[in-house]
Amino acid sequence: MENYTICNCKQVSYFDISDALQKSTHFDDVLEAFEDVQKITHCSTGCGGCHQKVLDAISEIMGGAMR
Ligand code: FES
Repeated sequence: MENYTICNCKQVSYFDISDALQKSTHFDDVLEAFEDVQKITHCSTGCGGCHQKVLDAISEIMGGAMR
């Protein structure tokens, strides 16, 4: 898996989101998990343009982990 930057404003990468997600207690709800990830990484607190990319990454990581 290649790492890449998801949030340019806050320099948050896919791996950062993955790490933060491990600490989330809402591993079954993308929006709740997003809030946890945001608290830890501060992703999507700048321009907000990465919001959907962050959600997509969370869904992808969750989907992979649940299989
Ligand atoms: S790219 Fe994430 S807040 Fe701007």
